[in-house]
Amino acid sequence: MNTVIQRFKEIGIIPVIALEHKEDASLLAEALCKGGLPAAEITFRTREAAACIKEMRASHPDMLVGAGTILSTAQVDEAISAGAQFIVSPGFDEEVVKYCIQKDIPVVPGTATATDVQAAYKLGLSFVKVFPAEILGGIKMIKAIAAPYNMMTFMPSGGVSEKNMDAYLKEDIILCVGGSWMVKKEWIEQRDFAKIAEETKKAVALLKEVR
Ligand code: 3PG
Repeated sequence: MNTVIQRFKEIGIIPVIALEHKEDASLLAEALCKGGLPAAEITFRTREAAACIKEMRASHPDMLVGAGTILSTAQVDEAISAGAQFIVSPGFDEEVVKYCIQKDIPVVPGTATATDVQAAYKLGLSFVKVFPAEILGGIKMIKAIAAPYNMMTFMPSGGVSEKNMDAYLKEDIILCVGGSWMVKKEWIEQRDFAKIAEETKKAVALLKEVR
């Protein structure tokens, strides 16, 4: 298995983060590491996303840091230049996926249907995001979609939280889950990194109960 994908599995929960200020990147990285989740998907939903990735990679070189909400090949370039180690998209975009393959950076496109999963498989992928997982039907829906594609594994994201993560993580087809519940916007705004470390720790404790 690709080493980056292997790390997704080892870490188990990928924090999905929207960061407005690059000054907060290393403090946030520190809080996540302290809590036991040395990973971050920094979403390109803010202007400073690339700068935040750069900052995290520099301050925490052992962390797994990638770019989320990537919608174009130009953003793939921006993310790679910043040091992103993987690319995530909310939906399946053939052009973006092919470009990442060409650039040799692991890509995790979002899928919501069997058609999406099959399109990803056709391009050689065996690991995809499922978004928005809870609204789509949660683990029941993923198991149903996965049945014909027994070579595929999944990262559900969207509505995953401490309340439902166990239902996903106990299944072998789920490599990891993604979510923002331990890095809530208000805690980032208040720069409450202690709270983020504490909530991350709680998430890891729950993860250990399941895995
Ligand atoms: C994502 O892009 O994966 C989601 O926005 C994360 O969803 P959540 O905020 O419901 O955890």
